[in-house]
Amino acid sequence: MAGIYIHIPFCRSKCTYCDFASYPRELNKVESYFACLYREIEGRGRELKDRVFSTIYIGGGTPSIVEPKFIVGAIRQIKKFFTLDKDLEITVEINPGTLDEEKVKAYKQVGINRFSIGLQTGYDDQLKRLNRIHTAKDFLICCNLLKGENISADILLGLAGQTEEQVKKTIDLCIAGGVKHISSYALTPEVGTPIYTDYLNGELLSDDEVADIYDKMRAYLKGKGFNRYEVSNFAIPGYESKHNYNYWQRGEYIGLGVSASSHINNRRFTNTYNIDEYLTAIIYNKAPEISSDVIDFEDAKFETIMLALRTEKGIDVKKFNSEFDADFFVEYKKALEKNRPYLNISEDFISIKEEYLYVENGIILEFMKK
Ligand SMILES: C[S@@+](CC[C@H](N)C(=O)[O-])C[C@H]1O[C@@H](n2cnc3c(N)ncnc32)[C@H](O)[C@@H]1O
Ligand code: SF4
Repeated sequence: MAGIYIHIPFCRSKCTYCDFASYPRELNKVESYFACLYREIEGRGRELKDRVFSTIYIGGGTPSIVEPKFIVGAIRQIKKFFTLDKDLEITVEINPGTLDEEKVKAYKQVGINRFSIGLQTGYDDQLKRLNRIHTAKDFLICCNLLKGENISADILLGLAGQTEEQVKKTIDLCIAGGVKHISSYALTPEVGTPIYTDYLNGELLSDDEVADIYDKMRAYLKGKGFNRYEVSNFAIPGYESKHNYNYWQRGEYIGLGVSASSHINNRRFTNTYNIDEYLTAIIYNKAPEISSDVIDFEDAKFETIMLALRTEKGIDVKKFNSEFDADFFVEYKKALEKNRPYLNISEDFISIKEEYLYVENGIILEFMKK
């Protein structure tokens, strides 16, 4: 399986925690950006004609901020130049307050069948502090426009003063909106973003506090029928994201647009974060890449372990052994013994026990040492 990621680097304003390639001041470049994106789609599509792609993910930034004709155009262009599976999952990211009936109609007509809404928190004072452009009520209006569709919501953990009760109420709001999938991210205070100051001033929750809230949230979501299928991702069975699952399986994907990353043919590469550089590269028929790494055999093995251990299912031992001509239980004997209390170990799968998933990084590193 392989996926296509398209990056839309435009937002109405910048949220205090966000370090993604999203530029409120560049909205005058939407038209030229899409013209170049369509060219990049054509070029990559021709190059990768022999591969079948099963998912398309339109992320950002805020894809729902641009006129729907641009998003529709991007999907039509993908359909024209890529070889696609019949059973396509097509996701678009949406910011509450930017959706209307016309957009929903256009999205559905072109085949978009999954909608990922950035809620972050159900509390208006927190949304304001994060410089979000919407309220909790706008989220419900947005869900109403998408009634009956496959809706996912993003929420953040670790906000200043955030309580367990607030996270539960935020989840209740998602459920009231008909959400079937929740991505719950621990807030990362990136250097250079305004929220970093809050972090330095000790205003954000500590790692231990976040771990505690995460655990309570996990149990609460379970009670509501949401299964944790990856560290940060919860779904009503049947609503797991195919696109993200492919990342954790170390599947191939092609990223198109500013800042998009790709993993194809044992190579990982990333496009420039700068819109002007991107436009110039495409206009002069050059690859807009700024970095490219070939993944060697040992890296590929470690990546497979690292990504699989984030998932509920864990490492598929037989698949691993056949892909790398390895004997997992012999090769990783030391790491397995050292971490035995934290792991579910069977002949076929190795996964981290649910209650230790939040501290998975330390466990994963042990497999690097073998
Ligand atoms: C790049 S955003 C795009 C979604 C959309 N623009 C929105 O914000 O509504 C995808 C998600 O990443 C998460 N995110 C962004 N910055 C983050 C940070 N510093 N720490 C943790 N999660 C973050 C947010 O939950 C956000 O919804
Ligand atoms: S709307 Fe999303 S992409 Fe845009 S600044 Fe906020 S978090 Fe970042």
